[in-house]
Amino acid sequence: MALIAPSLLSANFLQLEQDCTMLNNSRADWFHLDIMDGRFVPNISFGLPIVEQIKKVAKKPLDVHLMIVEPERYAEAFQQAGADILTVHYEACIHLHRNIQQIKSLGMKAGVAINPHTPINLLENVIDQIDVVCVMSVNPGFGGQQFIPQTIDKIRALKKLIAACGSKALIEIDGGVTLDNASALIHTGADVLVAGNAVFKSTDPVATINQLKNS
Ligand code: DX5
Ligand code: ZN
Repeated sequence: MALIAPSLLSANFLQLEQDCTMLNNSRADWFHLDIMDGRFVPNISFGLPIVEQIKKVAKKPLDVHLMIVEPERYAEAFQQAGADILTVHYEACIHLHRNIQQIKSLGMKAGVAINPHTPINLLENVIDQIDVVCVMSVNPGFGGQQFIPQTIDKIRALKKLIAACGSKALIEIDGGVTLDNASALIHTGADVLVAGNAVFKSTDPVATINQLKNS
């Protein structure tokens, strides 16, 4: 059964506490928090103060997805703010191995996200160090985009790489996940599904999370 990580990027920020409580009372496994700097991605979302507030009410792990340049400058601050899993982008890290070590030495699980254009095999030399590989199935920066179908082939390739290297990394799919593609993703090897619009634009988010969970 896959883990479900609703992305609060699509939540109603005027009633964030209510949305967090809804997630606490649902079958969601993680809170997915998208941090954007307007540099690595062409959009700005929210930052540390919001993560800190969410941490006060969240009863589930915070899966913090950094879409920022120089993520090493902020790893400690996000740990202090309450991140349990901290994901950095392959494309934003000059010293990815060092970044992964830094995240783990701060006591968090280390995630590495890859953009749609980045081949899986570039992770070969670090895959045994990674807890979560976040495969971007849209170009990062915005919620509500269309799923890129080639992602399915990347899941297959990643699954092979993980097995070949004896890694325990989870495969997380982020972007354009819906009730229509969830089961194909899980069948192909996804362990974690991030869902923003599919959950928060639903008329019944708890029921949608339940359906994703049962996919
Ligand atoms: C995109 C973010 C995603 C996004 C997913 O840059 O990383 O987590 O919020 O939103 P949906 O599920 O609406 O594509
Ligand atoms: Zn994300």
